[in-house]
Amino acid sequence: MSHTLHSLNSIPTHLLPHIAKIHMEDAGLISKLGYSFVLRYFENAIKDECAFGFYAQDDETDEIMGFSLASPEPSSLTSKLTEDKGWFVKNILKVVFTHPLAFLQMAISSITIRGQMYEPNTIECVYFTVDPKFRGRGLGRSLQKALMDEGRKRGYKKIYASVETWNIASLKATQANGFKIIKTFREGIYHRHRLESEL
Ligand SMILES: CC(C)(COP(=O)(O)OP(=O)(O)OC[C@H]1O[C@@H](n2cnc3c(N)ncnc32)[C@H](O)[C@@H]1OP(=O)(O)O)[C@@H](O)C(=O)NCCC(=O)NCCS
Repeated sequence: MSHTLHSLNSIPTHLLPHIAKIHMEDAGLISKLGYSFVLRYFENAIKDECAFGFYAQDDETDEIMGFSLASPEPSSLTSKLTEDKGWFVKNILKVVFTHPLAFLQMAISSITIRGQMYEPNTIECVYFTVDPKFRGRGLGRSLQKALMDEGRKRGYKKIYASVETWNIASLKATQANGFKIIKTFREGIYHRHRLESEL
């Protein structure tokens, strides 16, 4: 089955809900906050001047198979969720009552992220996710590799990623792409490896 990688920044907006649905399979914080946060996050990410990414589309069926996203400043993507104050307050209040632990985790993660470096000339592999139907065929690895190639073209020198210690598929893909573990740390409920690779 052949597929093509397209720029996430120029994805037609009617396809963004497909990206958001695939992202709900990720165990990270935004998906725990719920679909409306995920969709808003990607609406902001594709308009962001520095963030870039790719989505894989099946050549025959046009189905979206997976995507990847990188940014030199991932915390700015998260903080954009608070820009529309009315929307944010309404939606975060729902989270406080329905998923209080996700709310607590958000507070912990925002402190941890602030403490993380954003050295010049570096990017973060923020997300890479493959629809469960298409996993195990090398797509995750090639979506992450596309971020590395594009990052190199844009003049970045290093790429970082954080991967939960239980996430063997992500760790294998990331390490096969040349990343090395530089530390292991706890961030609230998450126990993560921090990995880096030269570009
Ligand atoms: C992580 C993810 C993107 C990998 O996508 P994928 O297309 O299945 O990955 P690939 O086919 O490129 O496989 C990469 C490596 O992981 C291995 N792998 C894939 N699924 C695996 C699994 N369930 N268990 C163990 N190893 C697995 C592959 O064999 C391959 O290893 P190899 O290079 O030694 O052969 C996918 O599992 C996913 O979307 N997970 C949910 C979201 C997520 O966790 N994203 C990463 C956040 S850090």
